[in-house]
Amino acid sequence: IRTLSLFSLMVLLLSACGKENLTTFIPKGYGAEESLKVITISTIVMAVVFIVVMVIFIYVVWKFRQKKGEENVIPKQVEGNKTLEIVWTVIPILLLIIIAVPTILVTYDLADQSEIDDSITINVTGKQFWWHFEYANEEIQTSQDLYIPVGEKVYLKMLSSDVVHSFWVPALSGKMDVNPDNENTMYIQAHEEGVYWGKCAEFCGDSHSLMDFKIIAVSKEEYAQWVEDLQNVNKDVQPETTTAQEGQAIFEQSCIGCHAIDNTPSAGPNLSNFGDRTTIAGVLEHNEEELVEWIMDPNSKKPGNGMLGAPYLQNKGEITQDDAEKIAEYLMQLKPSEITPNSAQ
Ligand code: CUA
Repeated sequence: IRTLSLFSLMVLLLSACGKENLTTFIPKGYGAEESLKVITISTIVMAVVFIVVMVIFIYVVWKFRQKKGEENVIPKQVEGNKTLEIVWTVIPILLLIIIAVPTILVTYDLADQSEIDDSITINVTGKQFWWHFEYANEEIQTSQDLYIPVGEKVYLKMLSSDVVHSFWVPALSGKMDVNPDNENTMYIQAHEEGVYWGKCAEFCGDSHSLMDFKIIAVSKEEYAQWVEDLQNVNKDVQPETTTAQEGQAIFEQSCIGCHAIDNTPSAGPNLSNFGDRTTIAGVLEHNEEELVEWIMDPNSKKPGNGMLGAPYLQNKGEITQDDAEKIAEYLMQLKPSEITPNSAQ
């Protein structure tokens, strides 16, 4: 009951953040379910040990307290008692086995890569302070929002291009370090459609706590549509409104140096079909006003990030508030079909 109420308290606190599915305690995928089993077993074992030790401790302190007139009485000593020593050696061994066996089984199970060749494989790159996603077989690229088909195992091959990060989507799976040198592989799988909030779980600099991303599980049909839209993305297509067309021209002069809006490699985040995204830079609400503020001063929103933004470009007389609004309108229109993540919890 103690454990349960603690769990519910944590769930309550975490759900209060308004970040969808950002909790380990309500698993929505195989990896998270298995991890929760191990967490539960360990917590129960630790709780039992704690309670038993505390009860014995309090009893002994009370029973052998100094009584009046017995100041120099020493209680019976038990040093060298074979039975006692066997008991307190065997019990910890048993407890360790109870924790170790499921932990090892789950660890090996979740590290299984036997289906990698027949599955969707995504190259994940952690960068200060955002995530780049490259779908190996589909030959598409995106950033921050990782779309996957519901129910399917999706393999992630992870590397960092700077410091160590850690990829963590609590509702779907455990953490995995993202290193600059040795590649780590894991799989994720979501039972239900929905948006699953992810966090960087390894301190990596100023905006570590803002290095958020999302896994968006959609139906197989919507996933296929999303992939097709990205495969057919064409940066030369003219947007509908005049403002957006002007925005496109400014974007191609100033922003394209770092950003791509098709499947070409880029130093900064790939913005292909940006209108489909659920947030800006992983942390801001996805609307034009926020996007304008972001372009005008990215460092106030996410300190230490590499985006130059208007303050720098403005020195060259290039980006004004008006320009930023045009760029924002243009980027929001990059949305070929209606792909709506089902956010139902
Ligand atoms: Cu990346 Cu913390």
